[in-house]
Amino acid sequence: MDNLKITVKGVEFRNPIIIASGPAGFGEEFFKYVLPSEIGGFTTKTVTLLPKEGNKPPRIVYVKNGLLNSIGLQNPGIDVFESKIAPKLPDNTKKIISIAGESPDDFSNLTQRIERFCDMLEINLSCPNVHANSVIAADSKLSRDIIFACRKLTNKPIIVKISPDLNVVEQSRVAVESGADIINVANSLQGAKFNVETGQPFLRKVNGGLSGPAFMPIILWKVYQVKEAFPDLPIIGLGGVTCPKDIIEYAIAGASLIGIGAEAMINPKGISALAKGVSGFLKRKNLNFEEIVGIAHKGGLK
Ligand SMILES: Cc1cc2nc3c(=O)[nH]c(=O)nc-3n(C[C@H](O)[C@H](O)[C@H](O)COP(=O)(O)O)c2cc1C
Repeated sequence: MDNLKITVKGVEFRNPIIIASGPAGFGEEFFKYVLPSEIGGFTTKTVTLLPKEGNKPPRIVYVKNGLLNSIGLQNPGIDVFESKIAPKLPDNTKKIISIAGESPDDFSNLTQRIERFCDMLEINLSCPNVHANSVIAADSKLSRDIIFACRKLTNKPIIVKISPDLNVVEQSRVAVESGADIINVANSLQGAKFNVETGQPFLRKVNGGLSGPAFMPIILWKVYQVKEAFPDLPIIGLGGVTCPKDIIEYAIAGASLIGIGAEAMINPKGISALAKGVSGFLKRKNLNFEEIVGIAHKGGLK
């Protein structure tokens, strides 16, 4: 499947499929179903300085063609991650480590401690489930200070994961001006669901992040907008992917790498078939993956 190779900021991916942060945790269960060699890269669950229990349940509810989660960055914290988890991440795929905190100092500390374990580092500025109704990305000064602080500490490519609830072009501009190399479009979109019998919200926190097929067209449009504004900026397209055709659509809109979130948790056995499906399509069209990235901006496929 040589037609799937893509190099992003000097890192060679065997294929553009990367597992997104969260739904597959740190891979313990996931890699029982999928070989590391079948995906381009794996993003860890977001790691914070201190352990986090996350929000109180119920914190996942299925909605039409998607799901809402309000997990709230549950993770064991950097000490356990550094000593027990990071050394065991599989070698035969690119490793992306996702980090989150409250301040530039938090992010600097985390960067120093995870840098040696990863091929790329992902700064999560957009978790909808930590603060009541806001994300760090809403504060452009704080976002700048955080990204700049991490940039000073590593030469590894920095991904900034942005929020679909805010202007994606503006968030990308802030990230690029502060030293980010790649933009992840995007985290989940805020939503809610209510029980008509009880009149109560399904999620204890009321709101949660919408992911899954229901929101893929929204994210596709946002990927297209970011690519239009920054033609040379590598983008990760993330939202609602379940089949090879979805991956191809994201590439056409402008994504160099494509993330798989909820599907990696709901149907991990299906992940192995994705690369083969995209490769077969490209063969039929006599193209390589890199040739279709952003093709919608250049008049489409001939
Ligand atoms: C259960 C669950 C946990 C998640 N945890 C994280 C997380 O820790 N960090 C993060 O950046 N995104 C997290 N996300 C968001 C996903 O990485 C992704 O942005 C979102 O689910 C959209 O992709 P999808 O439609 O393929 O699921 C989580 C999503 C789900 C469903």
